[in-house]
Amino acid sequence: MQTQAKAKDTLDTLWVPVVFHLIASDSAGWLPAYRIGDQLRALNRDFRPARIQFYLPRFGPGGGPTCGVTWTLSPLAQHDWTYQEDTLKKLLYWPTDSFLNIWVVESMTLNTIGYARALGDTVGMPGMVLVTSVVGDQRDMQAPFDWGRTAVHEMGHVFSLYHPFEGGCVGTTPQTCASEGDEICDTPPQRNPTYGCPTPIPNTCTETPQDLPDPIHNLMGYVDDSCMYEFTSLQIDRMRAFLSTFGAALISPENAQARGRQALVSEDCAAITALSPSPEPSGFRVRRFPWGIAIEGEQNCGYRLYDVWGRLCHWSSSCEVPMEGLPAGIYLLQVGPHTAPRYMRFLWP
Ligand code: ARG
Ligand code: ZN
Ligand code: CA
Repeated sequence: MQTQAKAKDTLDTLWVPVVFHLIASDSAGWLPAYRIGDQLRALNRDFRPARIQFYLPRFGPGGGPTCGVTWTLSPLAQHDWTYQEDTLKKLLYWPTDSFLNIWVVESMTLNTIGYARALGDTVGMPGMVLVTSVVGDQRDMQAPFDWGRTAVHEMGHVFSLYHPFEGGCVGTTPQTCASEGDEICDTPPQRNPTYGCPTPIPNTCTETPQDLPDPIHNLMGYVDDSCMYEFTSLQIDRMRAFLSTFGAALISPENAQARGRQALVSEDCAAITALSPSPEPSGFRVRRFPWGIAIEGEQNCGYRLYDVWGRLCHWSSSCEVPMEGLPAGIYLLQVGPHTAPRYMRFLWP
């Protein structure tokens, strides 16, 4: 029995639904959709060894279609975390036992790039706050925070990890390593955070039975994104145990069912594109009919209709978009030549 339960734990992937709340001060400030897909893939890349994976839900809190991204205009986009954490989070959040909330703001006080609160925290809402500049994975980002590892690091905190330099040179013996500092015995203690990516690797604490160099490549440190890449096996055990307890509802099969975890779109959620706020006024109007919608105010309609997953539903050069047989939900209508497409989103029916 015991061994079977343990064997099972080594196999199971824990699936966590995440929602990105984009907070901008004006509509020119939205993070482009591909950066969210990139960030999700970066999270899944670094959490693969831990067998923890993240997905964007297909259904929101009320059961309506979503791609796990929300857009809100607010002056709180310039975020002073010294006193605005609660205000920001209450501005917009999804139930924390069903979604892991990630708030994305334009800037933070003291040049902070991210901060987190663990699941089960009762002082504030669990989840993380990130600045837009660190959300993504290499494309259109700037070193040293350009591999999406700020979110990975913060997710470590969400799953109860501390920095390896927590407390400095403490927990230096096999008797104390599990209860002092970061409480992890396979991350050697470290006196201070390491920045950049130093060689040779420093050794700032002396521990027993074997004195090892500082764990500078650990994802819970402060080095450059390109220099951090690992969680140790005891960090992984701790995160999985914590997530299974304090995130039990979050990772439950019932929640996966309700949220709509789809293997194929879990990593890049094509719908993000369809759900992005239309940046330009579309220039055309639509009229609803029982059979579908008609495009008005266009000479040559030439449309393509996409569903919430970015799948092409149909296309035509006529101005009539028949909706019969299509499920209820959000659709994206693209009108005009593909060199200068214009878009409109609508909810059907
Ligand atoms: N300073 C932040 C924190 O303590 C995160 C730093 C992450 N480092 C990085 N290279 N992305 O939570
Ligand atoms: Zn940290
Ligand atoms: Ca050492």
